[in-house]
Amino acid sequence: MEPNLETSIGNIKLKTPFLNASGCNCYSRDDLDNLLKSDAGGMITKTMTLQKRIGNPEPRYYDNQVLSVNSMGLPNMGFDYYYDYSFQNPKEENKPLFFSIATMNTQDVKTMINTISSSTNNISGVEFNISCPNIVGKGQMGYDPEQLNSFLSQISKTKLFDISRNQIAIGLKMSPYFDKYQFQNIADIIKEYPRIDFLTCINGIGNGLVIDIENQETVINPNNGMGGLGGSIVKPTGLANVRQFKNIFGHKLDIIGCGGVENGSDAFEYILTGASCVSVGTALVKNSSTIFTRLNQELKNIMKIKNYQKLNDFQNSLKIKGIKEL
Ligand code: DHB
Repeated sequence: MEPNLETSIGNIKLKTPFLNASGCNCYSRDDLDNLLKSDAGGMITKTMTLQKRIGNPEPRYYDNQVLSVNSMGLPNMGFDYYYDYSFQNPKEENKPLFFSIATMNTQDVKTMINTISSSTNNISGVEFNISCPNIVGKGQMGYDPEQLNSFLSQISKTKLFDISRNQIAIGLKMSPYFDKYQFQNIADIIKEYPRIDFLTCINGIGNGLVIDIENQETVINPNNGMGGLGGSIVKPTGLANVRQFKNIFGHKLDIIGCGGVENGSDAFEYILTGASCVSVGTALVKNSSTIFTRLNQELKNIMKIKNYQKLNDFQNSLKIKGIKEL
């Protein structure tokens, strides 16, 4: 029998565990239409602000065999554009649409989520991006526990948090963390907001510097040439972040793994580590949304070889070398 790739984020069901990573091939209507027609299980918009933004000066994206670096600076069409688009994606298509929302301005966030909460629409999830590394002169909320707590406290009092889990999943796009204290501090805050259904781990590793030695210069222009790193070099950090948060939260939260997913075995690793879904960033930009057809097939092939019928048969079952199972 063909393996079954169905999964869920909170109470939202997906036919396959693959989504685009926010920011990748999801800026315009055409991009979103391509995702809608693709074999992805779900889709997410570019991180949006209330007003349209043009972002940072070019060149602002670079990739090679092992990494990508970007300092886009949140170019996006503005909330209304994506809100209008959402009505084109009927829920019956069974391709849940998630909105990625920038968190720099809490007042604007309240305006956006008020609109989302006060009318019937086709939005299945909201991901608050607490981890954009590219706003010149600003740090990430994900690295500032007090600011994060204040933000969550304010938005948890809005109508969005009263909407049923069956209708909308609420999540956070997380910064990458590297130390036990960081994981525990951030988890202690998130625990206070049990309506949060999912975490997406990880956003790009911030402020990386990639150099073109021929010209002895940086490969991108903004922010002194520094930007968020993605691609296969970030996969071990992505996996570790999924692992740490899954260990802390167990079944209370779903995790979307993100960082360096290029093929079915990368996805298998993330799911084995505890992710319910995986999102594809750098590899999606390098290819196109047809990549999802290959990813579904590759994941199914691995499951067939290993005799797994559904994701649950191996999800979160990573063994530790040298430790015997009971
Ligand atoms: C941008 C980059 C990010 O990693 C992110 O999470 C949001 C926005 C950007 O530069 O546009």
